Amino acid sequence: MSDHSAAIEDFLLERRTFPPPRAFRDAAAVSDRSLYEAADADWEGFWAAQARELVDWYEPWTSVCEWDLPFATWFAGAKLNVSYNCLDRHVEAGQGDRVAFFWEGEPGDRRVITYSDLLDEVCRFANVLKGLGVERGDRVAIYMPMIPELPVAMLACARIGAPHSIVFGGFSSEALAGRIQDARAEVLVTADGGWRRGTISGLKPNADAACAECPTIRHVVVVRRTGQEVAMVDGRDLWWHDLMGGAATECAPERMDSEDLLYLLYTSGTTAKPKGIMHTTGGYLTQIAFTHKYVFDLKAESDVYWCAADIGWVTGHSYIVYGPLANGATGVMYEGTPDFPDRDRWWEIIERYRVSILYTAPTAIRTFMKWGSELPAKHDLSSLRLLGSVGEPINPEAWVWYHENIGGGRCPVVDTWWQTETGSILISPLPGVTTLKPGSATFPLPGVGAEVVDDHGNRVEKGGGYLCLTRPWPAMLRGIYGDPERYRQTYWSRFEGRYFAGDGAKVDDDGYLWLLGRVDDVMNVSGHRISTTEVESALVDHPAVAEAAVVGAQDPTTGQAIVAYVTLKASEVASEERGEELRTHVASVIGPIARPRTVIFTDELPKTRSGKIMRRLLADVANGRSLGDTTTLADPSVVEEIRSRASGGSADEE
Ligand code: PRX
Repeated sequence: MSDHSAAIEDFLLERRTFPPPRAFRDAAAVSDRSLYEAADADWEGFWAAQARELVDWYEPWTSVCEWDLPFATWFAGAKLNVSYNCLDRHVEAGQGDRVAFFWEGEPGDRRVITYSDLLDEVCRFANVLKGLGVERGDRVAIYMPMIPELPVAMLACARIGAPHSIVFGGFSSEALAGRIQDARAEVLVTADGGWRRGTISGLKPNADAACAECPTIRHVVVVRRTGQEVAMVDGRDLWWHDLMGGAATECAPERMDSEDLLYLLYTSGTTAKPKGIMHTTGGYLTQIAFTHKYVFDLKAESDVYWCAADIGWVTGHSYIVYGPLANGATGVMYEGTPDFPDRDRWWEIIERYRVSILYTAPTAIRTFMKWGSELPAKHDLSSLRLLGSVGEPINPEAWVWYHENIGGGRCPVVDTWWQTETGSILISPLPGVTTLKPGSATFPLPGVGAEVVDDHGNRVEKGGGYLCLTRPWPAMLRGIYGDPERYRQTYWSRFEGRYFAGDGAKVDDDGYLWLLGRVDDVMNVSGHRISTTEVESALVDHPAVAEAAVVGAQDPTTGQAIVAYVTLKASEVASEERGEELRTHVASVIGPIARPRTVIFTDELPKTRSGKIMRRLLADVANGRSLGDTTTLADPSVVEEIRSRASGGSADEE
């Protein structure tokens, strides 16, 4: 955890605390400790009450939580439909004209989509899927840009009970193929391309390359977004608009079981094979509706809420689509990058739609800091009343900049900790209740059991250790698709009876939690999880590479950056071009987000006498730290050589 000493130093420098502003507290959905008290008194009863209040059920449950560690059943026997909860019930309640999404494409095209519009589209696409032979339980893969058809496809899947598996549009064809194969998906929904920084991404060609490796795919549905020329395979590929034109706008929602699979979402772990995280229906919807309502203090009738993540990540699943729509919120959805056509695009969007709640990642905030506070200052951001942060530890400097320059000093900042696996925010302030400390995610939310433990699993009352969750929660993952043993091993074996999140954390004198980043072989680059092993295996997959070791190095903008130490095969020569080629190779195998920032060539990697690569030493070098214990090194001169190369000319920086 020594990687994070900088975060701790920062936190020592920033000692201000921020109680809820009076006006905010007076209008907040919750401004006292009642939710915490109710949950402390009876956590199962608390979740049952939330489930009754926030979700519509066709049939009630017979038990709230059955816990056969590590397998949980929430709301056993209860029946519901997520798309009914996100759409029909609002329309039935007379809210059909409320805007569900203000959508904006990167080139400047705009669409306003009401709840009625969305319901119509979802029913139509649900009928399209049925027409293609998709049945309850069949998996549908989705590989799309940030266009309205993406939530339509998700909700259509939920309507007919077909779990979706969304693959982030920035992933490569190989990554897409691996995920389709693991899920054995039968239909893929994609687009010709999408807009990013003024250029067109080629989604369909990637989809075609992936499908060549995926015999389970029967049909590919293609949205025309950019209008670029794409190849269509006869009999397999179908245009979205052709299918939707003939589809009926009525489609009865399936009565799903509370524990039916809602979606799979693949995430990196400590091996090269991504894990298919399983999320189910009733518990998930309950907890994301709860957290979306209380963490963001949502006033559905007046707020304009913008979560600026991509739907391809869990943040978008839970807090662009399912949580906000379940609560009848009005959201903003934006297709492109923050610097197109100019670096104030976000502030322009906030001004245009009068956005009141903004939820984004520290890496974006640090980028905006670099671009300068004059850009947000040019716009009227007075509609904002609450700010959120997610994805990685937020350094206090970025927190304070966000608070002052975006929030005008008046908006609470909720730093929300959670994971793909947790499905829902678990550690966060409640903005009308909690006194904030910049850089701290503060406390577990009501109903959540979290604690910091030492190496032996003993609870740490004050100081550093490992973050664990002590009891099941409704939106928790139900497992890793097809691999229950890996599920047990990864999360439930390190500390008995507890879920190990893989994060280091620290408890301060007042009991506040400070998240310190990953303690395993997972890097966090711009809030995205990438495993060192995944990048290493992409590198050794290149014919010139003999061996590779990858570590995360601190980076002022992206949090961590990928540094690769590479030994070439004897016949190969290290050069700048070779370094560039390897970086490109990794980007094409995994996706541009995994492109190493730096490639350092070395004749040998530091190893123990038993042959294990000492990544810890490589991380010390990458982070410019003094070296830790080197006594177990087989050949101590290797590290010195790498150190001189790392600071010398062969590093290849962007
Ligand atoms: O290390 C933690 C970090 O992101 C990891 C989860 O990544 P992912 O599954 O991709 O989900 C990201 C969005 C929910 C965590 O293990 N992380 C997430 N939020 C925070 C955070 N670290 C510190 N503070 C946060 N608020």
